[in-house]
Amino acid sequence: MDSKYSIQFSILPLFFLLLLSPSVYCQLDYYYYDNTCPDLTRIVRYSVYSALWTDARMAASLLRLHFHDCFVDGCEGSVLLDDTSKFKGEKNAFPNRNSARGFEVIDDIKANVEKACPSTVSCTDILTLAAREAVYLTGGTYWSVPLGRRDGKTASEKSANEQLPAPVEPLQNITARFISKGLNAKDLVVLSGAHTIGFASCANFKNRLVNFKGSGKPDPTLDSSLLQNLQSICPKGDGSSDPNLAPLDPVTTNQFDNVYYKNLMNNSGLLQSDQILMGDSNTASMVINYSNYPYLFYQDFGASMIKLGSLGVLTGQNGEIRKNCRVVN
Ligand code: HEM
Ligand SMILES: *[C@@H]1O[C@H](CO)[C@@H](O)[C@H](O)[C@H]1NC(C)=O
Ligand SMILES: *[C@@H]1O[C@H](CO)[C@@H](O)[C@H](O)[C@H]1NC(C)=O
Ligand SMILES: *[C@@H]1O[C@H](CO)[C@@H](O)[C@H](O)[C@H]1NC(C)=O
Repeated sequence: MDSKYSIQFSILPLFFLLLLSPSVYCQLDYYYYDNTCPDLTRIVRYSVYSALWTDARMAASLLRLHFHDCFVDGCEGSVLLDDTSKFKGEKNAFPNRNSARGFEVIDDIKANVEKACPSTVSCTDILTLAAREAVYLTGGTYWSVPLGRRDGKTASEKSANEQLPAPVEPLQNITARFISKGLNAKDLVVLSGAHTIGFASCANFKNRLVNFKGSGKPDPTLDSSLLQNLQSICPKGDGSSDPNLAPLDPVTTNQFDNVYYKNLMNNSGLLQSDQILMGDSNTASMVINYSNYPYLFYQDFGASMIKLGSLGVLTGQNGEIRKNCRVVN
């Protein structure tokens, strides 16, 4: 009697999991290229490794590119497409113009992959794997990436402008964007931890430095010695210092770790959208958790990246395998 009930109770949740999961994950497959391109992971890893050798920032740039691909009309390699006479692509949308980088690296990886397995691996999967390698090679966590995404045939500057979060938006607005994509506040806090590597230009945080929200004063939630530093990096109010760069994590800039969260507890987040995670008790308690438990952050980061990488994917007969990541076939 007892054992009969316990079997039923242990199978029931499994049954519901099976019912719920196909819509999200089941079209992608951890073994997708095992027979058709067995060296894929090694090729991507080596190519990213080589790129980091000449430009340490490239890890951050590839990670961001994957986010910008997936957050705009789903992960379909749309961010990689150049403008054509038929559509204006995403490269010149506000969140990407003068800041999205790594396109040449994706071209290189694609060329190396095509040599080993022609017309087999999508540019979207390559970008997804490159983002994982970027985190892994900068000392962060590792997660298995389900594969089988296919490449989209169009891109939209308008979608990129409308869908990507801006650093000056209130937390409520940014959270609403994540929720509209099927992500949640936890994903927002965890994925913002990507700002443990890379840089931002003055254009994206100068609103905090002098006259914050018309107060005539800097952002009060910005540490005063960091403020001085940033004011010296971005001295000009006329826009001429807009392209100058500051590290998102000034303490361990090129290392993927949980110091981003420690910085937030220090009023040392660079972007307004970083520091406001401390302005809400729910997100702040997650920040504190991740600042104390690096392995909790690593584990949750991998899980949220799999969710991000599964948004709006094209599988089966949809889309195509692009030959050149910049143009549709
Ligand atoms: C939550 C909302 C987010 C906002 C408002 C935001 C905004 C920004 C901005 C303004 C920059 C600086 C761009 C520049 O000046 O060149 C940046 C950089 C970056 N972002 Fe985000 N971001 C967000 C979430 C994310 C997520 C979810 C990821 C990845 C999972 C990510 C990864 C990065 C990385 C790695 C960089 C550095 C790029 C480089 O150095 O080339 N961001 N972000
Ligand atoms: C935040 O969202 C509200 C409601 O959608 C909107 O009116 C407001 O302009 C947004 N704020 C910013 C800074 O985007
Ligand atoms: C926080 O502030 C302290 C004191 O200003 C500084 O030494 C430290 O580097 C800052 N960052 C972290 C991550 O502790
Ligand atoms: C903090 O982490 C623990 C696990 O270590 C978890 O049980 C708890 O729910 C977390 N709290 C928040 C606010 O994320």
